[in-house]
Amino acid sequence: MNEKNAPASQILFVANRLPVTIHLDGEQFQFTPSIGGLATGLKSYTEEQNATWLGWPGLASDDLTSSQIKQLDQELLEKYRCHTVHLQSDEMELFYHGFSNSTLWPLFHYFSNLTQYQSGHWEAYQAVNERFLDKLAAIIQNGDTVWIHDYQLMLLPGLIRNRYPDCRIGFFLHIPFPSYELFRLIPWRSELLFGLLGSDLIGFHTYDYARHFLSSVRRILGLEHNLNFINFDHRRIKIDVFPMGIDYQRFSTAIENKEIRTEMVEMLRKTRGTQVILSVDRLDYTKGIPERLKAYALFLEQNENYKEKVTLILIVAPSRTSVDTYDGLRREIEELVSNINGSHGTMGWVPVWFFFRSFTIENLMAFYQNSDAMLVTPLRDGMNLVAKEYIASRFDKQGMLIISETAGAASELGEAILVNPNDQQQIASAIKRALEMTRLEQMERNGIMHQRLARYDVRVWARDFLDKLARHSSHDLKTDTISLDNVQQSRLIQSYDKAHKRLILLDYDGTLKPFTDKPEDAWPEEELQQLLQQLQAVEQNMIVLVSGRDRDFLERWFGQLGIALIGSHGLWIKNYGADWQMSESLDNSWKADVRPVLELYMDRTPGSLVEEKEHSLAWHYRRCEPELANIRLNELRDALISLVASLNVGILEGNKVLEVKNTMINKGRAANQFLRAEPYDFVLAAGDDVTDEDLFAILDDKAWSIKVGKQHSKARFSMPDPIAVRLLLAEMLSSHR
Ligand code: UDP
Ligand code: G6P
Repeated sequence: MNEKNAPASQILFVANRLPVTIHLDGEQFQFTPSIGGLATGLKSYTEEQNATWLGWPGLASDDLTSSQIKQLDQELLEKYRCHTVHLQSDEMELFYHGFSNSTLWPLFHYFSNLTQYQSGHWEAYQAVNERFLDKLAAIIQNGDTVWIHDYQLMLLPGLIRNRYPDCRIGFFLHIPFPSYELFRLIPWRSELLFGLLGSDLIGFHTYDYARHFLSSVRRILGLEHNLNFINFDHRRIKIDVFPMGIDYQRFSTAIENKEIRTEMVEMLRKTRGTQVILSVDRLDYTKGIPERLKAYALFLEQNENYKEKVTLILIVAPSRTSVDTYDGLRREIEELVSNINGSHGTMGWVPVWFFFRSFTIENLMAFYQNSDAMLVTPLRDGMNLVAKEYIASRFDKQGMLIISETAGAASELGEAILVNPNDQQQIASAIKRALEMTRLEQMERNGIMHQRLARYDVRVWARDFLDKLARHSSHDLKTDTISLDNVQQSRLIQSYDKAHKRLILLDYDGTLKPFTDKPEDAWPEEELQQLLQQLQAVEQNMIVLVSGRDRDFLERWFGQLGIALIGSHGLWIKNYGADWQMSESLDNSWKADVRPVLELYMDRTPGSLVEEKEHSLAWHYRRCEPELANIRLNELRDALISLVASLNVGILEGNKVLEVKNTMINKGRAANQFLRAEPYDFVLAAGDDVTDEDLFAILDDKAWSIKVGKQHSKARFSMPDPIAVRLLLAEMLSSHR
């Protein structure tokens, strides 16, 4: 890494496609905004952040002279903060059209029949990923974060990790990750997975894609995952779900833009008297354009009354046209359009207006706002931003989206009309339903989706990813949790003896007291109460019980011992002699969104129940038939995952319970209030379950953190069971005598 004159750390966006695409017009370079979800989605966020990009400018470098390349690089850097990786035409053929778009793209979209496996393509893919590494090496500084995007660069995280082990690396896949049954077909499947595992954080649009990835890693590499973490190469890699949003503000205020208003008026004039259905895609076989046209033809056949009353505006933006399958698709679409116009059109009416060109986002907004229905029926799509853009642009909450259930966006847009993209009759009926839906119903449905799009827009999406990346380094894995044996215990006692101020943080269930079948039977016997009381009585000691139990339980059994209490996993705090205080001001507004989902699963799963706690909602399934409970649990996780991603809450899975809780409330944050209050020179924390990991996470390397049990932990030491912990506390006490 270049350490000289290092500026403050920066975030580098690395993607094959830059936010601008370059065309050579005579001697002049023309810069146009790139299309496609990755570039359009990230554009507004990165513009605001003044972020630096690294990517391919979109043309073959052997068509340029070296001075043109120099000029282009300079312009891209100065005007757009873009660094370049240049590809020659043969590399474009093998890497871009080849491995990226003839192997990964079709297979990941479930088109195994179109997938090619050619070793020449694979070699070029490796070589170009290495070229990205070399280019990155020239610009990266110590402490920088690298955020790599999409399927063209799946080897890059591993390559960077090898050269710069301490770099912070995030990867986001903008397309689906297919099921193991498909992914396993790739001859170089292990290499691709190892490449991705170089990251600290790997993000997907939906929980299904994350699940498919985890299962491929388990079945192909034999690496297990736990709570969406994979331990590999002495690191702990986090897998998470971030459904990409759009620049909601920009789309929802488009009407204020004069240029757009003028275009709208012009268009309204041309389509006057007909209802408009809109369709906008890049040219791609995954988008289901021919199927959509056939469904529209069926609609026209079945609904004579719509003759001369409806227009389909079909926008297909050229893309990857030198891949054969794309070129064939263009011809198929042209043929279908001319058949429909030929057989249904009249002198004054063209049923399909076909544009084979790309439009600026501003133009698209005008189309969006002038359309009564939007047809988004991909056969498979990672997310599909067009669907979200349409809803956001209809600031009047009119218009109806028809979207196929195989688009990632469908999981967030449940109030639209959902269709199976292969069911032409269903799409034809959906068109009729959309065109005839009352304004009131449209407003109700769109209103809900507006709220969701406004809440989790592209800025929140990017911030969410980057925050998680900043908080999680895969090096956080401590493989050196060591047993607190006799030697270590005597060191502990020595440091306890020497200390002037001691903080002792103790979990209760599973740490001081073994589990019982019924939690109400696990009360502390007198011996334990005395032990805590006596430890607290030592002048230099501060004892804090850090428990998941509620205030009533803690008050009843520990209220008189002189110790401090933290209850409900960190929600409540009580100093001895003081009143209970809430550790954070509580925003429970998310419960209104999550409660109906849990209740639905309670209704569908006999024996299960929903429990409402102060800062969480829990679905208990201990009394259910186990097989059904397992199926329901998977479905429920699916249903919740995209919802929770946008709500600042997390899912915690315990013993026969799934709990959704506010992520701001945890034992670590609450315990920190004690830790910061005094300059302690001896800190001990002991706990046995996942909620105690938040406690260990706030401690420095000098603290005596003790995991009770054998599971993986951030703690430095481990002890076998509560008996051992109590013996240790007793020994600490006896050192005063
Ligand atoms: N787009 C555009 N001009 C066009 C067609 C599409 O700017 O003529 C943009 C569109 O607004 C959207 C993106 O390209 O932001 C397409 O993203 P989507 O996620 O829908 O599909 P992808 O192209 O990524 O498969
Ligand atoms: C999708 C992919 C992007 C790609 C875009 C346009 O959105 O996920 O990685 O940039 O399509 O495709 P292109 O091949 O022109 O970059």
